[in-house]
Amino acid sequence: MSGVNDIRSTFLDYFKTNGHEVVSSSPLVPRNDPTLMFTNAGMVQFKNVFTGLEHRPYSTAATAQKCVRAGGKHNDLDNVGYTARHHTFFEMLGNFSFGDYFKERAIELAWNLITKEFGIDRNRLLVTVYHTDDEAHGLWKKIAGLSDDRIIRIGTSDNFWAMGDTGPCGPCSEIFYDHGDHIWGGPPGSPEEDGDRFIEIWNLVFMQYEQITKEERVDLPRPSIDTGMGLERVAALLQGKHDNYDIDLFRALIEASVEMTGVKAEGERRASHRVIADHLRSSAFLIADGVLPSNEGRGYVLRRIMRRAMRHAQLLGAKDPIIYKLLPVLVQQMGRAYPELVRAEALISETLKLEETRFRKTLERGLTLLSDATSTLGKGDSLDGETAFKLYDTYGFPLDLTQDALRSREIGVDLTGFNDAMQRQKAEARASWAGSGDKAQETVWFELKEKFGATEFLGYTSETAEGQILALVQDGKLVERADAGAEVQVVVNQTPFYGESGGQMGDAGVIVGEGFSLAVSDTQKKGEGVFVHVATVANGVATAGVAVTLTVDHARRSRLRSNHSATHLLHEALREVLGTHVAQKGSLVAPERLRFDISHPKPISAEELKIVEEMANEIIIQNAQVTTRLMAVDDAIAEGAMALFGEKYGDEVRVVSMGTAVRGEKKGKSYSTELCGGTHVSATGDIGLVRLVGESAVGAGVRRIEALTGEAARNYLAEQDERVKALASALKVQPTDVVARVEALVDERRKLEKELADAKRKLAMGGGAAQADQPRVINGVNFIGRNLAGVEAKDLKSLADEAKAGIESAVVVLIAAGDDGKASAVVSVTPDLTARFSAVDLVRIASGALGGKGGGGRPDMAQAGGPDGDKADEAIEAVAAALA
Ligand code: ALA
Repeated sequence: MSGVNDIRSTFLDYFKTNGHEVVSSSPLVPRNDPTLMFTNAGMVQFKNVFTGLEHRPYSTAATAQKCVRAGGKHNDLDNVGYTARHHTFFEMLGNFSFGDYFKERAIELAWNLITKEFGIDRNRLLVTVYHTDDEAHGLWKKIAGLSDDRIIRIGTSDNFWAMGDTGPCGPCSEIFYDHGDHIWGGPPGSPEEDGDRFIEIWNLVFMQYEQITKEERVDLPRPSIDTGMGLERVAALLQGKHDNYDIDLFRALIEASVEMTGVKAEGERRASHRVIADHLRSSAFLIADGVLPSNEGRGYVLRRIMRRAMRHAQLLGAKDPIIYKLLPVLVQQMGRAYPELVRAEALISETLKLEETRFRKTLERGLTLLSDATSTLGKGDSLDGETAFKLYDTYGFPLDLTQDALRSREIGVDLTGFNDAMQRQKAEARASWAGSGDKAQETVWFELKEKFGATEFLGYTSETAEGQILALVQDGKLVERADAGAEVQVVVNQTPFYGESGGQMGDAGVIVGEGFSLAVSDTQKKGEGVFVHVATVANGVATAGVAVTLTVDHARRSRLRSNHSATHLLHEALREVLGTHVAQKGSLVAPERLRFDISHPKPISAEELKIVEEMANEIIIQNAQVTTRLMAVDDAIAEGAMALFGEKYGDEVRVVSMGTAVRGEKKGKSYSTELCGGTHVSATGDIGLVRLVGESAVGAGVRRIEALTGEAARNYLAEQDERVKALASALKVQPTDVVARVEALVDERRKLEKELADAKRKLAMGGGAAQADQPRVINGVNFIGRNLAGVEAKDLKSLADEAKAGIESAVVVLIAAGDDGKASAVVSVTPDLTARFSAVDLVRIASGALGGKGGGGRPDMAQAGGPDGDKADEAIEAVAAALA
């Protein structure tokens, strides 16, 4: 029995032996197609090779291609877990001929592989051909010796393969395996063809045409071959299984989840184990290729997959996040064939855990809502769209999760209602993902690439160069000349201008020709390697075909270099301080600053930032040589170079190293090593200085660091310094003493405030007991009445006690108006008088005079307030009058 890994390598080795270039899988996020969400077939990375837009140094190739079919046109998500052969992630084994061999050799290669190398019983094989394809029919007969009844002509689109509405296409021929009559089903084309007995294992597409529009189809430059064999299917067959989920790779994953949850693999929860195994694969590979869960586009498809798996983990009774714990098993199974999985392991694990932890918070509550809302529903009913939308919007349930949860009870969801609810919210909803480029505009660059080849970039070593204008493009069209003032895009055969990529902005500068000059504001890379200078004709008439001198804006480029190199140093420092889950999620290297996004689940503390900054500056001070080497990708990665997830690298890559680590495991070795096509300083000291100036969140699990280098950092610090100097001068101390001085001032102020309050009280009481006013005698009663403006209300009671001190018998009334104009009043009556005068009655009189109502307390002490602070004297006299 052959394991999945053996089958994959047998396939690739076989085609290598037969003269094919073994090309590594392209990322799941397609780089050359603005319309495709995920790579869903082996031929995707070769699309432009088939149509002749792009050339490769080989004319035959073989791949094991990572594919995702979830979201977009090909979407298998709903069925995964419940069928034997649906996957969101799968591997497609394929061989390709770009105008090299055609039908005969393709059939020969396929037949030999499956019958000889794989040893599949030829009596169990049958094939289909497109109904008019007599040639293929004849070839199968000749090469495989198949009888007529086992070469089935199919007249439908089933045997005509197209990449999409447009693109390369052609008739195809599929190879089927008969699993035996113990399984129900009939051969392709028969009424029972949907049964599971006859399984397609390999599709050979005879690429002959390119669909330009719905109506127009043209011949490809040369007839070509594109084939696709599902690795999981063929593994099932070779392992004597009928179900893809019974192959070694899936068994390993399912056994792990069985062990973790204690729930049997084949019982009631069979589908849940399968969903988790499948979704773990797609999630892990998508994250490794740079997709993170989000609420739009690719990120949302990933989130849907992850959450669907998480609900199934919950069905298996898992109380804590478990999916990330299965990751090591996947890495063990697939990491050798796909090293990106190993490189991204920490990030994948962190992302899975974070999403599962988060989603668990609402999952339980959402499921309760769902079960309440469906308690009266039965088979064939539909959940109302409002509830489905609420689950989506408030509980984070993707629609397919809700559908999946209701599936076993055969309850549907009112999609119209759901969409209506969604529409209502649409204004707020972010615009959804819509491709990544303008196809029509891009064609011109492919044509230029085809005609002239890629632009040669000279800018690693020089900032000025001679060149020849190959094309002037105005409004998407080629022009021969452009007048002063015109905005043009200029393609030159070679250039020192860096084209924006890897986060580093494109160069600006000037292009000068005989009798004209162009002001270049930006440089972009288009159509796989064509450098496009975005320019305005500054003077004269720019003309295609002529020689020019190109000069990069040196000062701007120097700042770009510093910022780019500093980004590498910060990247390494962040990984050391925060952990190896830190991966670059995007960066902007601009002349004036740098911005760097990393995967990290929480804010980075001030202390961590300080250490990161110190570490980066430590390497800057080393003034170490920055070295760039061209290496084979595998060697570079083997040497520990940091590769960016999801980035597709050529065969040879630039590896940029800088600094010597002074601590940790890497001590004495290169500090930072990254695969990078950007431009860098020649020695770290050129950066001068790096200063972190910002740390913020830019999305779930992504933090943004902002920093300045060189002169910008120095200016920033100088401004801070100026501020300290200005403070010092205002405080009349040395700058070093500013902090102590400010602390002293704050203390002093606190003390003064207290003294002031005391002084106010004393002053209010007439400058102290010694000079206290003598009481007035009214109706034989000692009366003390005082207007204590500025005294705080809370002090009035104690002041009343003070006023009575030394007097045996008295009525005291104190009124204080605050800054807000309102007054507080306190009346105190000595015990001997309370029978005649209640403090409560008296304070109410005062309050009345102050425009207030009420007041309260005891007969000997009461207090009240009123809005009219300026009536304090009247209020005192009102109380006096009451005694008379
Ligand atoms: N491109 C063909 C397929 O996906 C081989 O089936």
